[in-house]
This record gives sequence, structure tokens and C-alpha cells, in this order.
Amino acid sequence: MTSAIVSVSKESRLFDPPAEFSVRAKIGSREVYEGMYRRSIEDPDGFWGEVAAELYWFDPPKTVRQWDPPKARWFEGGTTNLAYNCLDRHVTAGAGEKRALVFEGEPGDIRTFTYAELLRETCRTANALRRLGVSAGDRVVIYMGMVPEAAIAMLACARIGAIHSVIFGGFAADAVRDRVNDAGAKLIITQDGAWRRGKVVPLKEQVDRALTSCPSVEHTIVLRRTHNEIVMQPGRDHEWSVVVDRASDQCDAVPVTSEHPLFILYTSGTTGKPKGVLHTTGGYMVGTYVTTKYVFDLRDDDIYWCTADVGWVTGHSYIVYGPLANRATALMYEGAPNYPEPDRFWDVIARHKVTVFYTAPTAIRAFIRWGDAHPRRHDMSSLRLLGSVGEPINPEAWMWYRDVIGGGRCPIVDTWWQTETGAIMMAPLPGAIATKPGSCTLPFFGVVPKIVRHDGSDAEPNEGGYLVIEQPWPSMLRTVWGDDERFRQTYFSRFPGRYFTGDGARRDNDGYFWVMGRVDDVVNVAGHRLGTAEIESVLVAHPNVAEAAVVGRPDELKGQALVAFVTLKADVNATDELREQLADHVAAEIGKFARPDAIRFADALPKTRSGKIMRRLLGELASGQAPKGDTTTLEDISVLAALRDDDE
Ligand code: WT7
Repeated sequence: MTSAIVSVSKESRLFDPPAEFSVRAKIGSREVYEGMYRRSIEDPDGFWGEVAAELYWFDPPKTVRQWDPPKARWFEGGTTNLAYNCLDRHVTAGAGEKRALVFEGEPGDIRTFTYAELLRETCRTANALRRLGVSAGDRVVIYMGMVPEAAIAMLACARIGAIHSVIFGGFAADAVRDRVNDAGAKLIITQDGAWRRGKVVPLKEQVDRALTSCPSVEHTIVLRRTHNEIVMQPGRDHEWSVVVDRASDQCDAVPVTSEHPLFILYTSGTTGKPKGVLHTTGGYMVGTYVTTKYVFDLRDDDIYWCTADVGWVTGHSYIVYGPLANRATALMYEGAPNYPEPDRFWDVIARHKVTVFYTAPTAIRAFIRWGDAHPRRHDMSSLRLLGSVGEPINPEAWMWYRDVIGGGRCPIVDTWWQTETGAIMMAPLPGAIATKPGSCTLPFFGVVPKIVRHDGSDAEPNEGGYLVIEQPWPSMLRTVWGDDERFRQTYFSRFPGRYFTGDGARRDNDGYFWVMGRVDDVVNVAGHRLGTAEIESVLVAHPNVAEAAVVGRPDELKGQALVAFVTLKADVNATDELREQLADHVAAEIGKFARPDAIRFADALPKTRSGKIMRRLLGELASGQAPKGDTTTLEDISVLAALRDDDE
């Protein structure tokens, strides 16, 4: 039996949870975790029923879960409201004066919202939506930057049962148009512009362009943020300062059924039609609430900062809904990490005394490239916990994160999940689980991940394979908006009855999971199916390398040959000698078969707007083709042009 994917990682470092962390943690030992995990699998109804009961329901659920693959229904018979659980519940409990959101704009302006204030603003916005004809089940597109009003707009939709679809502010008119039309949105909430690296990103202008072909949209609400000149179309476009600010701050939360749709979020797809992942109310609420509670081990006085954009699922689940459902104080930062200087994040952490910091490997690699001097200049002793999400984190970046940012004292929670899963699926509980650099460790409660072979049989320990999830979980996607068949095809047809993640992974002898990235990113070299992420990880471990992407190109002899695109650290010269050195380094670390056939130095790698390297485009380049697939999710098109010029 040949394995689906060969794993070549040799990482063996192990870090126990610090004792002083464990004593204060909600879950303080491996034994407690295991007991709770076992219960969540053996008695899911009991386990999830109790978690759900920690939240507010207008009518309590009559059943916990119904599973008729691929259709899951959770907490049927229950009615609730997510905005009520994030706001009213805390105000009613006497926590109205606690800070809910602390906002720092890129220009340096700071605004805070207590829970009582956030509730009032949410009510005003909900009333404005209603006055413009929005009611339960209608779709509202939110196309904004990272401003508190984006979170308020989401909560306002949830409050009246409208379905929000946040479109990342980095997308341009065409992408906005496609998503608005797929969702059939009635209203768009946007802003004049957003701040990014000192410049204005003109959002309203993009909306105007999109709206020339979006027949379903009746109104827009426009927040003034950057004060650039915009055109307001009378009757269609409304000022936030008028329709929201002058609305009443009283608006009862609408009880909705547990399976009432909460939001549609389009995934950064690689081909064709945008894929609208649909999440519903009760299960998503319970999933984001309980994962935030245990994975970030929140304490009442934490200042929690997730650096994701609200336009991605991480922003939905871990800036807005999870933290607010837990009555946390969440920080929101508007701008770029290197504005005005590459130490902006560390400056924010020091000034706001951030205690929990959650960011992405792509950002961590950029910080490494910019140099240690920036973080070293700031007092970050307030930090107690670090998180990572979005990609496999290579062990060297993990170690840097731990030492330079965490001062060697903060546990790192490497959280594996997806837009589709809604909430964290695998992660170390920081007071209970020893960590290994690059592993997301063990499943969260109720999650049953398996590694399987091509034919669906179980892989052996350490044998690379496909990552599937066996049981339903509360926050799982319910369908692809308007396309049940695509939902079934994409997630439940490869291994019938089981959810296919699209990722390759292996499980080690201790039962720890190591996610190797998308299975589309597997390269077949002379019969070895290699996960490119592991080769990249070895390249990044070389002291001169900042970032690497490995792809295959057709090769007559070997099936596929390996091509590595490499960006170097700031002060390193790209020489042929270094190229040889790097190839030798991979051969020495992994084996001769993995020695890259070509190494190409690049100033930057093409990435999606959420920071994922677009290996598909690099593969096309490496094969000597002009990139032909969809490039609308590409962050910076000039990166691609530069790589092509390099070719000639
Ligand atoms: C894909 C999901 C989850 C929110 C942000 C991305 C990769 C994500 C990890 C991790 C290894 C990871 C996977 C996954 N991924 N987190 N901790 N370790 N890989 O959401 O855009 O839906 O992407 O990101 O490949 O399938 P997304």
C-alpha cells in the first residue's frame, strides 16, 4: 500500500504547558481534557446540551443533533439570537460597563465601546436596516474596512435575523458584484474609504461600479471614515450619520430558530463561481463560544487581539462572535502591520497591554523577515498566550514566535480549522496539552478527525493521508448558498458519509495531528507523494530564507520535478552559490529525492488576500505556461508580473 502523501517532517521538540499557566487554566491537565473529550464523543447530546445551556435561548432546544449526512441540524426547537447572547446577556448580568471593543485606527485614533454602548449602536443600526426595508432572511452585504461599525453591522443583522455576507475590503468591483448577485443582497453597508498604509482604499467607488449590474440591491448605507470625495445617489445611498445615528437605540432582538441562517461567507476559491459557505445560528453560536472559552482560556481581565480581517471567517468567529459571546474585551486594529513602521503590532501590544495575541503564519514570516529589532524594542510582558491560524506553521517560525514574541513563556495554540468548519477543530488547550512546533496537536471536544487512504481505509500512525471528519459538529457549514449539490459534491462525495477537509495530514505516535496543507499542493516526485509545505518548512529553516513555495512541474523522468520559489531575508544576496546550498540543504534534511530541480529567487510570492500562497499560479509559471486561472483573489498582481519577467 503506497501512502497517499509521504510525510518527511522530523520535528521532535515538545513543550509542556507552563505550570503557572495550567494552575489558572479552565482545563489544567491532559486528564481533564481527555475526560471531557471522551464524554463529548460518547455522549454528544449530553455534552453539547450542557454547553448550549450556558447561553441564552428564548425557547430551549428540544433535541441536540440530527445527522442525516450531509445534512446536520442542531438544537432544533430552540429559538435564540446571537446578538442577544453577545450583548444583552452581559448587560442584563450587570457587565454593561465592561469594555467590549477597543478600536485603534491606522492613523492612531482610539475608540472604545462598552457592552452597553455596543448594544445601543447595534440597536440603532438594526433600526436603520429595518427602515430601509430589511427583514429576517434578507441578505445584507457588508463591504467595509476594519472599523467597529463593521462588527456593529454584523451584530445588527443578527439582531433582526437578516443574513450578512461580509466581503473583504480588499476585493474590487467585479468580485463584489459576483458575490452580491450570488447572495441576492438587498442592501450594502460600506464606507467612503478605508485606511491602508496611509492611503485611502476607495470602497464606495468600487460599490458604485459593482452596482451598475446588481439588480437586487435597493439601498446602501455609507459610513464616512476617510473623507475622500464620493458620489451619493439620492434615494439609493444613505449616510450612516443620518440613518443610523438618528435612529432609536431601542430594538428588541428577534428570536430566530436555531437553524435560521446567520451568514454567508464566500471562500477564497481558486476557480469559477464564488462558493458561499452558509452558517446557521444556534450551532455556530455554541461552537464559537465554547472554542473561544477553552482554546484562548479567556479570563475576565484579558485584552484579546486577533489580527485577522472581519472579511474572513477568523474575523467573524474570533474577533466578533466568539469573544463577545464570552464577554471578552477584544481589540480591533484597522491598518497594516508595518505602518508607519514595521513595529506597529508590537507597539499596539505594549500600549494596550494585550494579553492574548492571535495571528497568521504568513504575518509571522514577514515579521521574521523585518528583523528582531522591532519586537525587541517593545515591552510585551503583558502577553500570556499566542495563537496561530491559516496555514501550517513551520517549526522555525513557531520557535521564533515563541522566543521573540512570547518571551519563551507563552504557550502557542496552533489552531486548525476552515471557513467551512466555522470554529476551531484542532488545537492544544493551552493549560492541558504539551505542544510540538508545527502540530495543531489534538481535536477539540466533539471533533473526530481521521487520516485515511485513497480507498477510505484508516492510515497507520505517521502515514500521510487525507484528513476527514467523522461526526457532525455544531458549527459546521450547512450548505453552499443556493447549491446543495455543490455542497454534497465538494465535501461529502470523496469519502461518502464523512466530511472531506481537502487537507493532507498525518497523526504521529502520540496521536498528534500534523496538517500538511491542501492535497492539491501535493507533488509526485518519482513515486513519492510529497506535501509541499514540509519542503517549504525545511527551506524556511535555512537562516537566509524568509519564505518559500514549492510546486511541481511536469517531468518526463520523475513525473513531477520540484521547483522552489524563495524569498530571502532583507540583507541576503541571491547568488548561484546560495541556490546550490539551499538545494543541498533540502537533500540533506529530507533526502536526495526531494532536492529541488530549480530554485528561483523572488522578491515576493503571489498570495491571496487572506495571505495564502497561490501555488497554483506558481505551478503554471514553473511549467512555462501563462497563468490562466482566476487571479481575482490575488493580493498584488504585480508580484506575478515580476515573476514572469524573471522568466525571460
Ligand atoms: C485552510 C482553511 C481557519 C480560518 C482561516 C483560514 C489551512 C488553517 C491551519 C493550521 C495548518 C491550516 C488548511 C485549511 N489551515 N489553519 N493551524 N495548520 N493548516 O480559513 O481560508 O477556509 O482556509 O487553511 O489548509 O483547510 P480558510
